[in-house]
Amino acid sequence: MSSRDQFASKIGFILAAAGSAIGLGAIWKFPYMAGTNGGSVFILLFILCTVIIGLPILIAEFMIGRRGQLDPIHSFKKQAPGTPWFMIGWIGLIACGLILSFYSVVGGWILSYLTRALTFSLTGQSLDFATLFTDIISNPWEIILSQAAFMLITLLIVQAGIKRGIEVASKWMMPLLFLFFILLFIRSITLDGAMAGIEFMFVPDWSYLNAETLLLALGQAFFSLSVGVAAMITYASYLSPKEQIAGSASNVAVMNIAISILAGLVIFPAVFALGYSPEQGPGLAFIMIPAVFEQLPMGGFFLIIFFILLLFATTTSAIALLEVVVAIGIGRKTEGRKKASWLFAAIIFILGVPSALSFGLLSDVTILDRSIFDFVDYITSSFMMPIGALFTSLFVGYYYTKDISRSELNTSPVIYHIWLNIVRYLAPLAIIIILIRSAF
Ligand code: PFF
Repeated sequence: MSSRDQFASKIGFILAAAGSAIGLGAIWKFPYMAGTNGGSVFILLFILCTVIIGLPILIAEFMIGRRGQLDPIHSFKKQAPGTPWFMIGWIGLIACGLILSFYSVVGGWILSYLTRALTFSLTGQSLDFATLFTDIISNPWEIILSQAAFMLITLLIVQAGIKRGIEVASKWMMPLLFLFFILLFIRSITLDGAMAGIEFMFVPDWSYLNAETLLLALGQAFFSLSVGVAAMITYASYLSPKEQIAGSASNVAVMNIAISILAGLVIFPAVFALGYSPEQGPGLAFIMIPAVFEQLPMGGFFLIIFFILLLFATTTSAIALLEVVVAIGIGRKTEGRKKASWLFAAIIFILGVPSALSFGLLSDVTILDRSIFDFVDYITSSFMMPIGALFTSLFVGYYYTKDISRSELNTSPVIYHIWLNIVRYLAPLAIIIILIRSAF
């Protein structure tokens, strides 16, 4: 893949963008964030933030990328010469590196689970997943090794540029993932006492309605849509200028919400039915999903397939993160992708080691009352992504002339006006208010 390849087809682009969006954010982070922030109110705010703010910004990123046809930094320099807008590319570069540093830790957990599930199913033993999770995340060697293995998978894909492989594989894996979730949902919802989980998800407890929850929901919407860090700008730069973008962006947003809700519908009924607490934090999906599988015939076998799919969803997101860094690293050149991939992957891996150890060896180290892992997650999703998204919307809202944005969006006048008002006023205002409220 030279840096100026193009996607083979529109569906290929949508799948790659959806692949970048749908990942740990929807399946792992969304349920545990909802679990620790009051359930229904968080879910409602997340959906609102996705549709009203996230989607218009996703469209903005597609626009900037497709128009620039270059890596994010050069894309801004080309479209806005002599201005500081290219800093959005820098924010993206740093944020993507930081996100991948902890993302690869969770990717490592999945690999560890997968190997353990395989060995255990071979010996026919059953597993205690709560203990297994604590075991894995606190074992320094296992976790660092798995993190390295996950980075290696990601880097091999990015350096080889098997976009077509990803496109083809996504076509099979994403529908399969949906199917599995539906199967799991049916099992979960038919457990005794499952309705309490549904209530937790859909009956609002308004005491959670505050600026902190809103900030977290907005951060989650940005994180799971992959916006604010130039990743979608980078992907769209491989998109042919002819393609329609509003429809593609809506598809991505809808699929992402659907998988998030489905993940919640699998996890929360089981949480309540099996007597767990929804406030378990990062371990929630890792403990609950296997627990639901245990209630199914051939559960061990399906669990392995499920983890393979989860690994796939995680890898397609990690690829997007590394792609931003590599695309910027090689800039306008078309060679050097291989070297850049290895170099940046190595740097990001090292950067991630403290996060990996923050559940064991470094569990006593806290920054602003958070573990290292949580801290990196918090500053990237709750600050860097909103700030990146803020400037992205200001750029298309004000730097682009209306003629440019109208012809780029190429949609009905009504939709165009709604979109323009959001990127000009609503999104910037909402992001600024939420940022200020959360800072004090
Ligand atoms: N959207 C991904 C997820 O929800 O798992 C995470 C992510 C990928 C964020 C790529 C940012 C990004 F550029």
